[in-house]
Amino acid sequence: NKEKFDLLEKKNEEAIKGGGEVRIEAQHKKGKLTARERIHLLLDEGTFQEIDRFVMHRSKDFGLDKEYYLGDGVVTGYGEINGRLTYVFSQDFTVFGGSLSETHAEKICKIMDMAMKNGAPVIGLNDSGGARIQEGVKSLAGYADIFYRNTLASGVVPQLSGIMGPCAGGAVYSPAITDFILMVEDTSYMFVTGPSVVRTVTQEKVTAEELGGASAHGTKSGVTHFSCENEVECIKRIKEILSYIPQNCEDNPPHLPYTLKEDESREILNDIIPENPNHPYDMREVVQGIVDEGSFLEVHENFADNIVVGFARIAGKSVGVVGNQPQSLAGVLDNHASVKAARFVRFCDCFNIPLLVLVDVPGFLPGTDQEWNGIITNGAKLLYAFSEATVPRITVITRKAYGGAYDVMNSKHIGADLNFAWPTAEIAVMGAKGASEIIFRKEIAQAEDPEAKLQEKVDDYTERFANPYRAAHRGFIDEVILPSETREKLIRGFKMLSNKVDKLPRKKHGNIPL
Ligand code: COA
Repeated sequence: NKEKFDLLEKKNEEAIKGGGEVRIEAQHKKGKLTARERIHLLLDEGTFQEIDRFVMHRSKDFGLDKEYYLGDGVVTGYGEINGRLTYVFSQDFTVFGGSLSETHAEKICKIMDMAMKNGAPVIGLNDSGGARIQEGVKSLAGYADIFYRNTLASGVVPQLSGIMGPCAGGAVYSPAITDFILMVEDTSYMFVTGPSVVRTVTQEKVTAEELGGASAHGTKSGVTHFSCENEVECIKRIKEILSYIPQNCEDNPPHLPYTLKEDESREILNDIIPENPNHPYDMREVVQGIVDEGSFLEVHENFADNIVVGFARIAGKSVGVVGNQPQSLAGVLDNHASVKAARFVRFCDCFNIPLLVLVDVPGFLPGTDQEWNGIITNGAKLLYAFSEATVPRITVITRKAYGGAYDVMNSKHIGADLNFAWPTAEIAVMGAKGASEIIFRKEIAQAEDPEAKLQEKVDDYTERFANPYRAAHRGFIDEVILPSETREKLIRGFKMLSNKVDKLPRKKHGNIPL
């Protein structure tokens, strides 16, 4: 048997070498890690169990019958991250440029199927030249098999995509369907058509980095949720995200142990809202003042920064935070902000993560650009996402909640469980000046001193409506609270809601305005 055992060892050694020393060196020279090094960083020490190490392609065309590599350009298997089961595939650029063959796809599909059956997240580490060109339609079929599974798994198990190199053409659509994309600055890019095709078709001259690098997708398109300085940071981030989310849609997010303090008040929150209601402040400071110290993990940090979204913990329990950001575009809702927040809300709802919504919104951004790019449809996405969310939902209005945006931002009327307002809240159809100019137009025009008349009307409107009490009289606001009390109220509120059961009407699926 010794010979047989030796053969196994030889094959294992061969598989681990991937495309060979020279290509591994070339990979390192580009500042990239190998597929196996990435898995080593991702999973708890010694937990990786590889599957399909000896799979080989079945192609005969274009000389492929003379070139075989064990594993066929992707390392797949399962292991643990902080002791929790996780499935992983990691494309090996040293083998045919990590290109996707029929068998390469089969390996990915196999672990996706296992992840679905066993209820655990799938992490994909992408580094690939795309479809294996020599294989033609077989590799395209392989992609489609993966896309189909990504869709079926959506909302069942969390799916995260780390982009560690090229990801172009059809290949982009697998990460696109997954829950979160993380890109590495300078060494990764994603695009449907690359710079040379762009140049031929549109005459635009653009580099791969400009067209589809981490910075472009982190700021302009919003395709990536995280831009990471390097691969090590990227992998750390993946683990951090997982720490807030459950293993599957039937599971609850992990709780960190937390002992309630006698006094959970946070005086610092009382000083955040400026005296002048038109002055900005940073909603992140409000978030940080409310949640467990250091627990806020912002998603989409550099995209649509007029809304802030991210994960945090309150008394050790995960929450998804959505907050208007008054220091960017005064916190208005626009196309990008609406879509960004809607997708985040839906993720949290899929995976039983309660929502905390912080409101300071003067309305929707006006203009042809917004209207022609569909602010009606896009704003409706956020409205729809909140309305259909069945997780515990708490809203805190810190300052402005104007017009339709008041309704959209997790108002009582669309199913929020607890609605708080700070004494600085202004819940009205619009700002006092705009409102007075419309409803008292004639009176102001006919006045001896129109300026003074306008001011008189503004003051009157402000006194009547620029406060939380009208809404509180009706029960649309459950309680008006001091900012410093917010954390305590939220701890108690989320605890009260922890066994919430809410069901949507029976349907095949809703028709969110896409
Ligand atoms: N199919 C088969 N082999 C591929 C491949 C693909 N799609 N993409 C890359 N490879 C191979 C290369 O032939 C090369 O093989 P070698 O090591 O035996 O020389 C190896 O992978 C590395 O590719 P290389 O071009 O040297 O790397 P690079 O870093 O300079 O460029 C890409 C990377 C992805 C930009 C480039 O390989 C490329 O343009 N690939 C084709 C992309 C594409 O059009 N895919 C199909 C559409 S989805």
